[in-house]
Amino acid sequence: MTYEEAVKKCRDAGQEHVLKYYEELTKEEKEALLTQIGETDFTVTAMIKDKEAATRKGKIEPLTCLQLAQIEQEKEQFLKTGTQAIREGKVGAVLLAGGMGTRLGSEDPKGMYNIGLTKDVFIFQRLIENLMDVVRQTDTWIPLYVMTSDKNHEATTAFFEEKEYFGYCRDQVFFFRQEMAPASDYEGKVYLEAKNKISTSPNGNGGWFSSMAKWGILDKVHEAGVEWLNVFAVDNVLQRIADPCFVGAVLEKNCAVGAKVVKKSAPDEKVGVMCLEDKRPSIVEYYELTDELMNTKDENGDPAYNFGVILNYLFSVSQLEAIMAKKLPLHIVEKKIPYLDETGQLVKPEVPNGYKFEQLVLDMIRELPSCLPYEVVREKEFAPIKNKSGVDSVESARELCRKNGIGL
Ligand code: UTP
Repeated sequence: MTYEEAVKKCRDAGQEHVLKYYEELTKEEKEALLTQIGETDFTVTAMIKDKEAATRKGKIEPLTCLQLAQIEQEKEQFLKTGTQAIREGKVGAVLLAGGMGTRLGSEDPKGMYNIGLTKDVFIFQRLIENLMDVVRQTDTWIPLYVMTSDKNHEATTAFFEEKEYFGYCRDQVFFFRQEMAPASDYEGKVYLEAKNKISTSPNGNGGWFSSMAKWGILDKVHEAGVEWLNVFAVDNVLQRIADPCFVGAVLEKNCAVGAKVVKKSAPDEKVGVMCLEDKRPSIVEYYELTDELMNTKDENGDPAYNFGVILNYLFSVSQLEAIMAKKLPLHIVEKKIPYLDETGQLVKPEVPNGYKFEQLVLDMIRELPSCLPYEVVREKEFAPIKNKSGVDSVESARELCRKNGIGL
C-alpha cells in the first residue's frame, strides 16, 4: 500500500492518528506500517456503537445432556466406535494456544508455564502426556494442530523444538497462526503499540477454523483423512484429548459437534452453559443466565441449565466446511491494552483501557444443526489455569493434579 492510499484508508476510517509518527520512521519501519494498515480491518471498531448486537439472545431452552449414568450404560459401544475412528485416522486434535493469558500475567505463552514443584511440568507437557495416553491405548498417532498467534508463535514453536515435542511424533504436529484484530480505546480509536505498529491482539478462540484454512492446514487435514477435530483449550491441565468414549458418543448420536461439560459447582458458577437458542444448539454465558433460567428445572427436578462447557469440543470437519462462508460475529471484550501515550512512551495499563474484538467458538456451534453435551467427571477432567492464585489457578490445578495421582 502506498502512503497516499494509507492516508485515505485511515482518514475514511477516522484513524489518521496511526500515521502520526510516519515522518520519524526508517524506510523499513514505514513499509511495515503501510503493510499493516493495508491488512487491518478498521471496520470492527464500528461495532462499539452497537455493543448489544453481538450479545443479543434468541429464545433460550434447555438442551438435554448425556449424563454420566447414561454414558456408563453405553460405554462399551462408544469406546468401540471411538477407538475404531481414531485407529482409522479420522480424528485430529486442535490446541488453542493463541490467547494472551493476561490474567496469569506471564510474558511467555501460557503453555510454557511450569506448574511443577519438584520437577519441570510445563502445561504443554501435561497436555501431550494426556494425548499420549490415547496414542498408547489405540496404537495410533493423532495429528495435533497447534494454533498460535503473532504474539507467541516463535516462542511456542521454539519451545516444542527445545523440549523435543515432549516425546510426541514431531511429524504429527502442525503449527498455524490465528488472525489478529486491532485493539482500540473506548471511542474506537485504535491504539499504537509502537510508532510503526498498530496495537493488535489475537481475534478470539473462534477464529481457529478459518485460520486453519488460510494457512493450508485444512488441506493437511484432508490429506490425512481426518474427519473430526477435537478442539481444546491450552489451560486445562487435566484435559482429556481425543477421548475414545467421547468420540464414539458423538459419532453414535450422529451429532455435528460434541461438547464436554461438567456439572456446575453452584447455580451461579462463572461458566457458559449449553442450551438451545431459537431451537439451535448454543451456549448461554453465566452473565446472561437470568434468575428465571437459573431456577428452571428439568423433568427430574434438577436444574435445567446445569452443565458448563470446558472448551473441549469435537467438530465434524464437513459440517464446519458447510458453514465456513458465514461470517462469525465479533464480541467486544474489555482488556488492558499497552499503548503509546501522547509523548510516544509505551504504557502498560493496570486497569482495562479499551476493547479487543474476538470471535468465539460458541458462535460456530450456533450455526450447526446438532450438538451433544457430554458430561465428564469434573475432578478428573477440569483443572483450568486462568489466574496465579485462587479460583481456576495454578494452585487449584496443582491440587487437582495431586488428587489424580499426577506427580509435580
Ligand atoms: P481465554 O478466554 O481464557 O483467554 O482462552 P486467554 O487469552 O488464555 O487468557 P486471558 O483472558 O487473557 O487471561 C481460552 C482458550 O482460548 C485460547 C487460549 O489460548 C485458551 O486456550 N485463545 C483465546 C486463543 O487461542 N486465541 C484467542 O484469541 C483467545
